[in-house]
Amino acid sequence: MKSIIDIHSHMLPAVDDGCGSREEALAMLRIYEAQNVEAVICTPHYGQFSGANVEKAYQWLKSASAGTNLRVYLGNEILYTGSVLRDIRSGKARRLAGTDWILVEFEEWDRFSTPAEEILEGMRKLSESEFRPILAHPERYASLQNHPEYCRPITELGVKLQINAYDIRKNVNTNTRNLTRKLLEDQLVSFVGSDAHGAVRRAPDLLDGVQWIYDHCPEDYADAIVHDNAEEIIKRGSA
Ligand SMILES: [Fe+2]
Repeated sequence: MKSIIDIHSHMLPAVDDGCGSREEALAMLRIYEAQNVEAVICTPHYGQFSGANVEKAYQWLKSASAGTNLRVYLGNEILYTGSVLRDIRSGKARRLAGTDWILVEFEEWDRFSTPAEEILEGMRKLSESEFRPILAHPERYASLQNHPEYCRPITELGVKLQINAYDIRKNVNTNTRNLTRKLLEDQLVSFVGSDAHGAVRRAPDLLDGVQWIYDHCPEDYADAIVHDNAEEIIKRGSA
């Protein structure tokens, strides 16, 4: 099993609904190290939270992790809206590690899931831009759980899919687990992330899912989605 690179984490302290304090971020760092994670791209929500000093939180985390085995990078999890391309071009919404890759989510609340055709059309628009879009946790959308046939056309646009390791086996929602496993079995997934939001609630939980992947998928494919594809992003990155 390769060491893990997590491209989806709310590890920066006090900038969104994720990690709440510097102390908690240090606890997350230790959890990551214990799970053989070599790098994390911090992806605070963009679009739902504003005014937080993300840059300052990132510089602090970078210093705090300097003596550890964990490398940290910066990006955003960008909520899709009609003005999203403008915000990415202006630099308000960050790309992953300073590359042309972007991590994108759609609205998904208790009683609302962005319809599958809107996710497809949104990702089409982004795929036709100068950026390289990654759809965050497709398995969480009720619309895609009900219409999994939309997932392959999304990838055929050149869009990459990132699943949450937790959703493979631990998520209590059967529909979420089923779609996650189907995407892995069909090899439509390009990245495995944690989507961690803290050190206790929604703590980094990658090993269990990664083990499932190595048990159920070809080793080359597992290596690619656990480590190598993310390493390619980081290697090209400047931030
Ligand atoms: Fe997230």
